Amino acid sequence: MEKERKLIVAGNWKMNKTVAEALDLVKGLKLELNNLKDIDVVVCPPFTALSEVSKEVIDGDIRLGCQNMSEHSGGAYTGEISAIMLKEFLVRYVILGHSERRQYQEESDELINTKTKAALAASLKPIVCVGETLEQREADETEAIIGKQVRGCLAGLENSQMEEVILAYEPVWAIGTGKTATAEQAQAVHAFIRSVLVELFDEATAKRVRIQYGGSVKPNNARELLGQPDIDGALVGGAALEVRSFSDIVKNCLDD
Ligand code: PGA
Repeated sequence: MEKERKLIVAGNWKMNKTVAEALDLVKGLKLELNNLKDIDVVVCPPFTALSEVSKEVIDGDIRLGCQNMSEHSGGAYTGEISAIMLKEFLVRYVILGHSERRQYQEESDELINTKTKAALAASLKPIVCVGETLEQREADETEAIIGKQVRGCLAGLENSQMEEVILAYEPVWAIGTGKTATAEQAQAVHAFIRSVLVELFDEATAKRVRIQYGGSVKPNNARELLGQPDIDGALVGGAALEVRSFSDIVKNCLDD
């Protein structure tokens, strides 16, 4: 697949997999996925499996990410995990502002912005998630909502910092529901996000930023979605939990 930006496919394992299950999954992925020079492949296990999964991916092509981090660098924050602790396990990416955290932990754009800056300060690459609900889409508010989230989450970043950030457009109504946005619907929002990046940063920066699509990405729809000009990868939930489906998503996006 000829693309302007290097594709990035990340698996968000959410609150799934014991250490033993995580090891089975990553070992299976290592057998299926190698020679990944045209695509960045990232797995984001739960915190409890990072140490063991890290040992498995250390010499290979698969990169390690995680699903959240604290905005603080250390101290009296019971239950939290800082960027520096994650870096001990060679974590390179961190998913921030996933809609489940926005919904259940009430994470705001302002908090996600603070976390994004903390991740960048520690040289972690943030995967910043945005997305509208079904009610917002039906009320024709998609662009207003996405624009507000993008502006809020990225406020105050320098152009050079923005190039380290990955955005993920994940319509809330498509997450875990089996309902994917059509390739046209997704492309329209991705193009809109890129136009907001031009306003916030500049044309050259906006062109370099990778924007993933997420929401019921499966082996049979990945290629069409990622074939769109402004869709530069996928953030995969359910289909990232099995070796076959995740590796097929990656393979289906590579050249034949
Ligand atoms: P899904 O989840 O692929 O299961 O829809 C995507 C996500 O939440 O990142």
